[in-house]
Amino acid sequence: MQIYSYFCRRKLNITNKRVQMNNESVRQKFKGNPKLKRLVDWLIMNQVETRPRWYVRMLAPLYQHRGRHSVIHHSVRMDTPPYRQFRLGNYSVIESGACINNAVGDVIIGDHTRVGLHNTIIGPVTIGSHVNLAQGITVTALNHNFSESDKRIDEQGVNTTPVTIEDDVWIGANAVVLPGVRIGTHSVVAAGAIVTKDVPPHSLVAGVPAKVIKQL
Ligand SMILES: CC(C)(COP(=O)(O)OP(=O)(O)OC[C@H]1O[C@@H](n2cnc3c(N)ncnc32)[C@H](O)[C@@H]1OP(=O)(O)O)[C@@H](O)C(=O)NCCC(=O)NCCS
Repeated sequence: MQIYSYFCRRKLNITNKRVQMNNESVRQKFKGNPKLKRLVDWLIMNQVETRPRWYVRMLAPLYQHRGRHSVIHHSVRMDTPPYRQFRLGNYSVIESGACINNAVGDVIIGDHTRVGLHNTIIGPVTIGSHVNLAQGITVTALNHNFSESDKRIDEQGVNTTPVTIEDDVWIGANAVVLPGVRIGTHSVVAAGAIVTKDVPPHSLVAGVPAKVIKQL
């Protein structure tokens, strides 16, 4: 298994840039051909489970960048189809029971970062280096549309606004970071906070909705 993983990483370093460049042009091609798009989506995603099919999950180390000495624990649910980026930096760890979903936007994680037990990350999300996410945190860039009152919510699709967590941030247990938020460097989010607005660098935020309670 280790040899397989080493081989995948070596191969990846060579091909990763090319794969990234191709992703956008492939997406554009599919936009003009909805039938082909549906077929490819069906081949990649289990339509009931809304997660990549087992053979796609097996191939993930070939098309994803996983940094040196990084760890993704076995029970992590990687809903990371190949048409978006997932990158994990060097020495970063994704703890057991977490779920990473890049189906609607890239998930990029820097070096020496820890995604804690039972976290859920839904892209597009960029997390910097030396970030520590405690347990049970949700970071989501996705909202469901609900503005049309005569349509069911699950018929209305979704929208995304990217989330950014800059370097050197600690987020306490069970916090929620909502779409569009940027958390500035060297900040702390208290346990249980719901972060609805940007957090300036060097601040401690707490509460629902989260407010700055201290400068660091
Ligand atoms: C935020 C935290 C770090 C404390 O920071 P601190 O600078 O020592 O803050 P204080 O304890 O002095 O509290 C300052 C104020 O914030 C309030 N406060 C502290 N933590 C809070 C929280 N999680 N939610 C809401 N308010 C909080 C305090 O009640 C206090 O209010 P007051 O001034 O009205 O009395 C800590 O409370 C916390 O949330 N830690 C997260 C722990 C965790 O998740 N660990 C997981 C392992 S990685």
